[in-house]
Amino acid sequence: MNKNIAIDGPAGAGKSTIAKLVAKKLGSIYVDTGAMYRAIGLYMTENSVDKSDIEAVKNALGKISLDIRYEDGVQQIILNGENVSGKIRTPEIGSAASAFAVIPEVRSGLTDLQRELAKRSAVVMDGRDIGTVVLPDASVKIFLTASVEVRADRRYKELAQKGEEVNIKEIEADIRRRDEQDMTRKTAPLKQADDAVLLDSSSLSIDEVADRIIEIAKEKVPTLREVKAF
Ligand code: DC
Repeated sequence: MNKNIAIDGPAGAGKSTIAKLVAKKLGSIYVDTGAMYRAIGLYMTENSVDKSDIEAVKNALGKISLDIRYEDGVQQIILNGENVSGKIRTPEIGSAASAFAVIPEVRSGLTDLQRELAKRSAVVMDGRDIGTVVLPDASVKIFLTASVEVRADRRYKELAQKGEEVNIKEIEADIRRRDEQDMTRKTAPLKQADDAVLLDSSSLSIDEVADRIIEIAKEKVPTLREVKAF
């Protein structure tokens, strides 16, 4: 039995914060697949690639080299030699990521990379299609969700804390658009895997959700243990 944990869910459900925490507690590697789609979104935006021109998209993909590195356990994403981990965290790049993520050619390259990472070590991987497509054999599958209002409020606070000027109504509209796009695309849409456990984080703290996932993981994979110093 593998030790992989797949966490899927819509934008702003708290996946990355929780996945990071779970990975740390279990001594697994955290793989943020959204960052990979964001790096593609960034490249396409910076190079004004039109998403409806499939030849232009394929041509652009041929010019992209994407590397994943870990620095002090934190995933870094390197796009054509540049560390873009900071640059990709904007709502604009999130929307571009979602728009280009509908294209099968974009998905297949990233899916291969994600499977390769999961082969090398036990992972906690978050995204939209991890339990359904990328790692259908993951031992633990979680579908993490929260109400649109709660997700918008969390994103608002996160961006405001970074000093960005944000409007909660715009964030909410962006989340609704992204949910719609991610759930209705033909290839690997966002949906709960049949064998995934549904967790609604609307009224739970980060620690409560993480602890629940660790409990589920320990039940399913008895060899998974928390890494503790004492
Ligand atoms: O999780 P995130 O907000 O960083 O993801 C950005 C976009 O990337 C998301 O709206 C859809 C796409 N994505 C995807 O299609 N499949 C994944 N496994 C992860 C992200």
